Amino acid sequence: METTPRILVTQKVPGAAYILLEAAGTVEANQEEGLIWPADELLRRGPGHDYIYCLLTDTIDAPFLEACAGATPRLKLIANMAVGYNNIDLAAATRLGIAVTNTPGVLSETTADLAFGLLLATARRIPEAERYLRAGKFSGWGPLLLCGAEVHHATLGLIGIGRIGQCMARRASGFDMHLLYYNRHRLSTEEEARYNLTYVSLDELLQQSDFVSVHVPYTTDTHHLIGERELSLMRSGAILINTARGPIVDEKALVQALQSGQIAGAGLDVFENEPAVEPELLTMEQVVLVPHIGSASLQTRTLMATMASQNIVAHARGQLPPNILNPEVLR
Ligand code: GLV
Repeated sequence: METTPRILVTQKVPGAAYILLEAAGTVEANQEEGLIWPADELLRRGPGHDYIYCLLTDTIDAPFLEACAGATPRLKLIANMAVGYNNIDLAAATRLGIAVTNTPGVLSETTADLAFGLLLATARRIPEAERYLRAGKFSGWGPLLLCGAEVHHATLGLIGIGRIGQCMARRASGFDMHLLYYNRHRLSTEEEARYNLTYVSLDELLQQSDFVSVHVPYTTDTHHLIGERELSLMRSGAILINTARGPIVDEKALVQALQSGQIAGAGLDVFENEPAVEPELLTMEQVVLVPHIGSASLQTRTLMATMASQNIVAHARGQLPPNILNPEVLR
């Protein structure tokens, strides 16, 4: 006998998501704005659903997946409302035959907007200048007042040249920046020519760039990709931008590099132990910090929210979810 799928939504998400889900099954949802269920509560509530709609702040680890796989109904699919899925143990899900989906593409331009905004804000000291003005310190134009770094014609090194990295390259080419990139796979000659991108090694990129912007996913291979050694290769006037995932950068090593003047500044949207931030960073004028808002426009969050729902709906209709990360489980 066909039963109605049971769907759990772990956090409050844009309204459009629920309309699609309610047409596909019975929805149980955490509706408390800003409430992230702690691990024990997630473990209490998760098992016994066909589908779980989760967020990047939910840890979907092997014990949780095993509990969901052992319950009735058995978990069929986890839909992450994020492009990054390092919060989910994909290998464990695959081993247990649970499908996993994410939300690629729809947030690339929006995230690149924020990355470029952080680059400009850090280089031109915009938040620091605003703090200065609001503190009543502006007593008149000064020839040396709050001078920052040039952005136009500077060299930008992109670590990772996937969708978001390419959007960043497009923005930077509008500022006549010289573009270097480092990636596991080299782009085709045509793709490199499109943005005037030069492929270099990671060390060359770090040595030659005025700005370094991180656009790789977080995996065991990219953990602390930027650590003490890498920071020591950067130019003394260089600025590091990270809108990818916090643990790609060794945050303690970054603090030291900033304190010693090894590098000039940083623009950070993500942190190693979110929502915690290394306390020294909070005291540094040369650092611009925002709370993981890369994709935070209402339009983009709505697109991400409906995309996550569409993956659940597709599976419930017997179709291949469009953004499946482990299609082998459905073969
Ligand atoms: C945001 O960080 C995302 O991965 O979608």
